[in-house]
Amino acid sequence: MSYETDIDAAIQKLHDEGRYRTFIDIARERGNFPHATWTRPDGTERPVTVWCGNDYLGMGQHPVVLEAMHAALDAVGAGSGGTRNISGTTVYHKVLESELADLHGKEAALLFTSAYIANDATLSTLPKIFPGLIIYSDALNHASMIEGVRRNGGAKRVFRHNDVAHLRELLEADDPSVPKLIAFESVYSMDGDFGPIAEICDLADEFNALTYIDEVHAVGMYGPRGGGVTERDGLAGRIDIINGTLAKAYGVMGGYIAASEKMCDAVRSYAPGFIFTTSLTPSTAAGAAASVRHLKHDQALRDAHQTQARILKTRLKGLGLPLIDHGSHIVPVHVGNPVHCKMMSDMLLEDHGIYVQPINFPTVPRGTERLRFTPSPVHGPREMDALVNAMDTLWAQCALNRADLSA
Ligand SMILES: Cc1ncc(COP(=O)(O)O)c(C=O)c1O
Repeated sequence: MSYETDIDAAIQKLHDEGRYRTFIDIARERGNFPHATWTRPDGTERPVTVWCGNDYLGMGQHPVVLEAMHAALDAVGAGSGGTRNISGTTVYHKVLESELADLHGKEAALLFTSAYIANDATLSTLPKIFPGLIIYSDALNHASMIEGVRRNGGAKRVFRHNDVAHLRELLEADDPSVPKLIAFESVYSMDGDFGPIAEICDLADEFNALTYIDEVHAVGMYGPRGGGVTERDGLAGRIDIINGTLAKAYGVMGGYIAASEKMCDAVRSYAPGFIFTTSLTPSTAAGAAASVRHLKHDQALRDAHQTQARILKTRLKGLGLPLIDHGSHIVPVHVGNPVHCKMMSDMLLEDHGIYVQPINFPTVPRGTERLRFTPSPVHGPREMDALVNAMDTLWAQCALNRADLSA
């Protein structure tokens, strides 16, 4: 038996399936987003425009965020120096948690090093707090929720994506006296469709279930203060646990849950993913708090974001491209084959200086591979024109190549 052979076989499998991932090495230019410099594997450089970042609003270069981060760094140094329970709780963490609790109208919030960890740690811990808990999980939930539910050792039921009738069937089939939790998302990041939040809350009321929503692709961007789709639709009060990230619209890093004081206290006390890891750096917490605070008021930025998404969708549809449009800010163009998807992404990068990462299995189901564009207020008309022209040229070119490939 050879470990090397096993590694080679595992990697080769990914190559064979056209889903081996390669890093695209970019340096974003502060003050000049979405422009960046790509360093090719041979060390040569090429200027590119980033069209697949999740820094949806460009907050990663916003002066209020950078100033807050610099000030914290200068005041207290680099790392937090410990876990939250052992010397790693600072005033910056506390301020950020209270900004987040306020954002969602909840009593408390709890920070994690990412939203992935927040989902995984919380969902894997809840059965310790609610013995016998059954988690009802949307089939298209993010990998971090799937992992949390899978690892928790409790019972799980997977309902068909956004199918409240199926969810009802599953709830009806279980013992009414058993604790239950429904876990789902507000904006599904790969198709950009919305979860049926009100209907799920109705079912939760009827079956006495808790509700858990991932608002990672909505916080900062939806709702009059950036509290996500639950804020926009006046539903935050009906959700028991709201999960969000500080790494996308807020432009920094970190994740959280917002919930009741008691719920946060219990998760804080039982979740290994919260307890046994160093807390966020104070500068990260300071930057994130500044960003959350700023976006509670900057509706113009949210509006500009939605406008950009609408313009791009209209223009790509005008080219006749197979666009998935559910009315959110996410713009996925369906390619449907991992090799073609990668080829298009490579050509966009090399020939047109446009960086959009191919999205392949397991991030999306096989056969639904896509290019997922993330327009933002920092993409101007010049960048938009360049993208639309490149897609126009490339789609025609690739149609030929696809015919060659399938011949
Ligand atoms: C739906 C969803 N939840 C959670 C996460 C994890 O967020 P973070 O990057 O903060 O770990 C992601 C990341 O892309 C996501 O798409």
